[in-house]
Amino acid sequence: MRTIVALPGDGIGKVVLPESIRLLEAAEFKANYLYGDIGWDFWRKEGDALPQRTIDLIAEHKLALFGAITSKSNIEAEKELEPFLKEKGLVYFSPIVELRQHFNLDICIRPCISFKGNPLNFIRKSSNGSYEEPFVNAVIFRQNTEGLYAGVEWTNPSKQIREALDTHPKMKAFSHVPSEEMAISTRIVTKKASERIIRAAFEYAKKFGYKNVTLCEKPNVLRETSGMMLKIAKEIATEYPNIPLWDTNIDALMMWLTKNPEDYRVIVAENMFGDIISDGFAGLVGGLGFACSANIGEEVAVFEPTHGSAPKYEKLEPSIVNPIAMFLSACMMLDHIGEQETASKIRNAIAKVIEEGKVCSYDMLKLRGGSDVFEKGAASTQQITDAVISKL
Ligand code: IPM
Ligand code: MN
Repeated sequence: MRTIVALPGDGIGKVVLPESIRLLEAAEFKANYLYGDIGWDFWRKEGDALPQRTIDLIAEHKLALFGAITSKSNIEAEKELEPFLKEKGLVYFSPIVELRQHFNLDICIRPCISFKGNPLNFIRKSSNGSYEEPFVNAVIFRQNTEGLYAGVEWTNPSKQIREALDTHPKMKAFSHVPSEEMAISTRIVTKKASERIIRAAFEYAKKFGYKNVTLCEKPNVLRETSGMMLKIAKEIATEYPNIPLWDTNIDALMMWLTKNPEDYRVIVAENMFGDIISDGFAGLVGGLGFACSANIGEEVAVFEPTHGSAPKYEKLEPSIVNPIAMFLSACMMLDHIGEQETASKIRNAIAKVIEEGKVCSYDMLKLRGGSDVFEKGAASTQQITDAVISKL
């Protein structure tokens, strides 16, 4: 039997992850779940949001389902530490970003696909005044380990850093700025990682019959990093003569997003741009309650909904949160391990529940989150799981 590391994390992660396991079990997917420690509680009590024992567990079993994580600013993070851990120079890093980098989960896949009948689907006014609901079917490939997320950054850069930077002629514009008044984040892009994410995007397009691949960068300004990605994309595209490569700037894509989202299929981008694009497209198909993702490396893979931990909803009993993003992430895990049949069984069941429209989470009813959503017709998290299970 397969072993899956279950990492609920913080807040609503502790609600949606167990619900997804209940669904997987109902779909007769047989696995053994080992729970791993990750998140804010472990930061507070141990000064480490991603303890070594959790890294070891994932390294051993290579497959993880992840719920959600709370991130706070450095100042707040320090404040919440247990007294004996304070003033030790501990620095909080987002454990999900650390997981991606530690296991080199460099391929992030984020499908944003409309469900028929979802009241949150994007609609657009057509020229005759009627409304149309374009079918969005975009899959974002986000480089998941480097770029602006590499973490190579400084506040008050040292003399050595300043000297190195001063070798660049554009630093002249900052020569009068004292280091204490300066913060720097680098955007590091490598050839190998770019090749891997771009090739993964083309392979996916080929495998699933998507008609184009768009590189979404900004090579007219970020001449080096985006420029390198564009050059590599053009080279790789020659190996896929039937899949045209489109090249759209990130700002332009954000504008096209609500004009013709249905034209975009597979989109590939650097880490931060991929983060932005995937939220943008998620908004067109129901928002974070529907946004799933896969973080895939050569050995390890971690599947997670892209929503946060929503701590304000954690304590609501029964829970109001929409578990569908977590369910869809679990389906991506099933696809990854060759259990496509079970994955489509679950996806079809979700689609039926949404299309029927009888059982809706509060976000689908466009309600403000709170304990009063039930009297306004919203279903609880558990009721949504039950509804999906009943359609399996
Ligand atoms: C995501 C999230 C994370 C990210 C945060 C929580 C660090 O926004 O998975 O998209 O920026 O990657
Ligand atoms: Mn994000």
